[in-house]
This record gives sequence, C-alpha cells and structure tokens, in this order.
Amino acid sequence: MLLSVENVSLFFGKRKILDNVSLKISEGEIVAITGKSGSGKTSLLGIMSGLLDPDEGVVYYKGENIIKWWDFKKSRYRNKEIGFVFQFFNLLPDLSAYENIVYPSLVKFFPTDLKGEVRELSKILGIEHILYQKPETLSGGERQRVAIARAIINRPKILLADEPTGNLDTGTALEIKNLFLRLRDEFNMSLIIVTHDEPLIEIADRHYHLEDGILTEKIIKRPQRENKTKRTASVKKTKSLDKKAQAKAGSKSSASRKTADKKIK
Ligand SMILES: Nc1ncnc2c1ncn2[C@@H]1O[C@H](COP(=O)(O)OP(=O)(O)OP(=O)(O)O)[C@@H](O)[C@H]1O
Ligand SMILES: [Mg+2]
Repeated sequence: MLLSVENVSLFFGKRKILDNVSLKISEGEIVAITGKSGSGKTSLLGIMSGLLDPDEGVVYYKGENIIKWWDFKKSRYRNKEIGFVFQFFNLLPDLSAYENIVYPSLVKFFPTDLKGEVRELSKILGIEHILYQKPETLSGGERQRVAIARAIINRPKILLADEPTGNLDTGTALEIKNLFLRLRDEFNMSLIIVTHDEPLIEIADRHYHLEDGILTEKIIKRPQRENKTKRTASVKKTKSLDKKAQAKAGSKSSASRKTADKKIK
C-alpha cells in the first residue's frame, strides 16, 4: 500500500467536514472522488498531501504516519512524492510555459538534466511547440498540460488532481484522460482524481463519493469484456514506450498487469 488514509475526521470550527474517512491507494492505481461542492474533496486532498492536519485519524505513506512528520519532512514529501494539478491551472503569469514547468525543480534536492526531462515530458504531453509562450497566450487545454508537466516534473509517486478537466471542453478533457492513463502506464504513477467527468471516473480502479462528510466506495459497474479490451490496449501502449520510462515504471506492476490480462484471455 502506497498511501492509506485511516479514520480521518476534520472540523472547521464546529462543522464536521470529514467524518471517519478511510481510503487506500496502491502503486499504479487510479482513484476517482466525487461529491457536491463544499463536501470536502479539496480538504481531503490537502490532508493526503500533508498540507492540512486532520483532527482525528492517520495518514500513512509507505507505512509512515505523515501527520507526525516535521514541516520540513512534509514539504519534502510534497515536493518529491506528490504532484498537484489544480482546477484553475495556477500557472505563474510572468513565466513562460518552460519556466513554469521547471519551477518546482529549482527546490529539488538533486537536480538532474532538467532540459532533457522537460523535452521528454513535453513530447508525451504534446506541448513542445508552446514551451516559450506565456500562460495568457495558451489555450485552456495547453495550460492544463503545462500544469500537469509541472506537477510531474519531479516524477512524483502520486498525482493529486483537483477537477483537472473542470474548465475544459469535452475533446480536451478526453486528451487529459488519455494522458493520465499514460502516466499510470509509463511511470506507474498513482492518481487520485477529484472529478465529475464521466470519462475520468471510468478509468478509475475505484470510485469514492463524499457526502455529509462520509466517504463511500461506489461499485463500478463495468462489463467484463470492456475491461479486457481497455487493459489489453494499455499494455500494448506500454510496450511501445521508451526504455528509460519503462525502467522507471518498475517492471513489477506492468508484469502483473500482463499476467492479469493473460488470465482474462
Ligand atoms: N480554512 C477553512 N476554514 C473554514 N472553512 C473551510 C476552510 N477550508 C474549507 N472550508 C470549508 O469546508 C468545506 C469543504 O471545503 P472543500 O474546499 O474541501 O470542498 P470541495 O468539496 O472541494 O468543494 P468544491 O467542489 O466547491 O471545490 C466548505 O464548506 C468550505 O467552506
Ligand atoms: Mg474543491
């Protein structure tokens, strides 16, 4: 288990925002969270990223309770292990797309070949041609892809995405969906996505719904056949990826995915 939220409750004043909430995510898993406006979704992401301490409960990352960590360790966790994609992109207006992407790496502890990393990511995200433009000159979809590049430049283990397609048209939202699948397949990233977009919910391994502070897991009704086709397609895609990315992805999970596919066949 990579991240485990256990029996977490959160109050703002006398209001109970989260009530005994539990949620787990393993490597390479996608989790979708839905819930009405004000139901506490962003707060829950804040707790998972160590930005917000719950009033009750624990959050384990790789078996360690992050709530007990000092601020320095928490910010290192946020910087190295977590990527955050916001609903409104949150790009710095005076910086170019390229500068926005490398910005979090300036506080990285062991900077590597940044240009190479940006080149590789830009190819995956299809933003090579707009890297030197300012955010105001970019379309919504391009801005969101720059924001995603920034979120994953440090190759986090977990990507927390807060309504990442909330401001995008259907076509662009589908591109973001495909991109998320590639992040899982190529980097073995775990994704926690707050969303109301059906296509994004569909790619999730698990779907949770937040209401009156209570998080419940929804049963995903997915025909067996469709599951098989989807998984097979994603494995084929993985095979065509560059070797460096595959090595990073860790052979373990893709191997188990292939085995699972074989079993279905
Ligand atoms: N720092 C704070 N102090 C007091 N109340 C807060 C604070 N942060 C959030 N809240 C309240 O907690 C509730 C949950 O907020 P949160 O942002 O987590 O909701 P959400 O589900 O993400 O909503 P939305 O879909 O509109 O983004 C809201 O009613 C909000 O007003
Ligand atoms: Mg929110």
